[in-house]
Amino acid sequence: MNTIVLKVDKYVDKLESNPQVVDAAILLRENEVVALPTETVYGLGGNAESDEAVGKIFAAKGRPGDNPLIIHIAETEQLKDFVEEIPEKAQVLMGKFWPGPLTIIFKLKQGILSEKATAGLATVGVRMPDHPVALALLKTCGLPIAAPSANSSGKPSPTKAEHVIDDLNGKIAGVVDSGSTGVGVESTVLDCTEEIPIILRPGGVTKEQLEKVIGEVRLDQALSDETAKPKAPGMKYRHYAPNADMYLVSGTREFLQRLVKEKRDEGLRVGVLTTEEHQADYEADVVLVCGKRAELESVATALYDTLRRFNQMNVDVIFSEVFPSSGVGQAIMNRLLKAAGNKIIVE
Ligand code: TXA
Ligand code: MG
Repeated sequence: MNTIVLKVDKYVDKLESNPQVVDAAILLRENEVVALPTETVYGLGGNAESDEAVGKIFAAKGRPGDNPLIIHIAETEQLKDFVEEIPEKAQVLMGKFWPGPLTIIFKLKQGILSEKATAGLATVGVRMPDHPVALALLKTCGLPIAAPSANSSGKPSPTKAEHVIDDLNGKIAGVVDSGSTGVGVESTVLDCTEEIPIILRPGGVTKEQLEKVIGEVRLDQALSDETAKPKAPGMKYRHYAPNADMYLVSGTREFLQRLVKEKRDEGLRVGVLTTEEHQADYEADVVLVCGKRAELESVATALYDTLRRFNQMNVDVIFSEVFPSSGVGQAIMNRLLKAAGNKIIVE
């Protein structure tokens, strides 16, 4: 299959009638799959009402069938078609954070969405992306769009159209290319079917931000306890993994540098994931800067691109600094731990 690249400048007017957006909308209506930019990461979109389209998403990504997809909408009105009820707290959160990086889990109204999209569960995750091109495309095609991150299963999520091409070229009908995404980590997945909502996946909207609006919010036990079963099926899989063996290092920079030296003495090519502030403190085969520690948002934005860049540098081992687990740091540490297969070395 020839994957077409449709370039769309997100700052132009009248995106809904933009020829590339219209082309992408036609493909979606024909039950083809198209990668699209969102404010978090690129998504691999398909008609959420069609088994055919959703089947193509799973096939292109090599995604296990038990992992449900997030449904993307452009208008809150669309919810009533496939959601049983909108709890009060969810209503408040939608008012505050939509469009934006918050996926809300509702009770599913059966019969409209493809059962493949929801993996046969009784619930459904929905979000309204805060990206002008995504919103225009959703409005133009007029469908609820199922969209997981547009990477091959297990790889870091794509924050640029080039990442999508690297993983899925020839496997999907098209990519809408609007440059880099902004937030860089995926949406927060929040289960609002319980009286006290539960974060199943930390992401672009922080626990602190949610609690300011609706009071107590819990964290899924599996986020802190490796032996607990995650409530979000996708969280049980290893993810974001670079090709090299990766370790998180909790300790001083001198300690991390000693680890680098040991591995280099064994003849291995060693990479370090650090930030602008500490860049000059390391001597390794590859030192990659992932944003600024003083602005954790910039670390989130650069994270997946940095993990992918290590693959091009052919390192054998990566040592990564760790980050505070507050604010968006919670999502960053969650992704880094998964990328490292939970390997953390404490000084
Ligand atoms: O930012 C994002 O959320 C991106 C962009 C493209 O919107 N999408 C994304 O989708 O990250 P995906 O498929 O890579 O991750 C969806 C996560 C998975 O861990 C999945 O198991 C969970 O959400 N999920 C989806 N529906 C669920 C449900 N009904 N109950 C529990 N977890 C659910
Ligand atoms: Mg994903």
